[in-house]
Amino acid sequence: MTRASLDKRPDEVASMFDDVAARYDLTNDVLSLGQSRLWRREVARAVAARPGDRVLDLAAGTGTSSLPFVRDGAYTVACDFSLGMLREGRRRHPDLPFVAGDGMRLPFADGTFDVVTNSFGLRNIQDTDAALRELLRVTKPGGRVVVCEFSQPTWGPFRTVYSEYLMRALPPLARTVCTNPDAYVYLAESIRAWPNQRQLARRFQDAGWERVAWRNLSGGIVALHRGYRPA
Ligand SMILES: C[S@@+](CC[C@H](N)C(=O)[O-])C[C@H]1O[C@@H](n2cnc3c(N)ncnc32)[C@H](O)[C@@H]1O
Repeated sequence: MTRASLDKRPDEVASMFDDVAARYDLTNDVLSLGQSRLWRREVARAVAARPGDRVLDLAAGTGTSSLPFVRDGAYTVACDFSLGMLREGRRRHPDLPFVAGDGMRLPFADGTFDVVTNSFGLRNIQDTDAALRELLRVTKPGGRVVVCEFSQPTWGPFRTVYSEYLMRALPPLARTVCTNPDAYVYLAESIRAWPNQRQLARRFQDAGWERVAWRNLSGGIVALHRGYRPA
């Protein structure tokens, strides 16, 4: 069984997700204590896809994060580099266009998409800044980005309790539902090492996104960042 380390070597990250693909969605529901459904609803509201829009869901995994945009009538491409996740996604959603691709070198032409989005993927991509620049490149001028990622609870006492949950409760809980519990040690470590809301917003700006803003969900456990490609 593979567990990626914090240098996020792409071969290790891909193979770790290959290992967890079959039970990935169930494990998510359990470990997020049911919150993941609420987060997905908020992503759909922020993306606000309309019929005729072209949406890229990068690091789409099994495609669960892409479904709300399809339901809203957008032509949605689900892109990921784990063949195990793509295989599981194709089995579950045969009509969803899955594309194998690396977020640091996307297989799409400049200005292809009206909206690019990413749920719980950016943190796993080895070079965050390269991914943010690639997302910008494939977005139409004036188009937008929405990223949903774990972040930092804003209230100090809650931040402490949450940090304890991540490091102490989450790995044993993962052992009860997941085929590769070590992957969830990586999850806990990667969340703790991830930039906070303001720092991540700065990285968006440095990559060329403008009007960058964020909104906290579940007290800051998760943040939705948004930005626009200059017109
Ligand atoms: C936690 S899963 C998120 C899946 C889905 N977006 C969701 O919300 O359920 C993270 C995904 O990021 C993908 N990933 C990590 N690095 C990537 C990269 N460089 N290019 C494409 N996908 C990547 C992994 O293969 C994995 O499927």
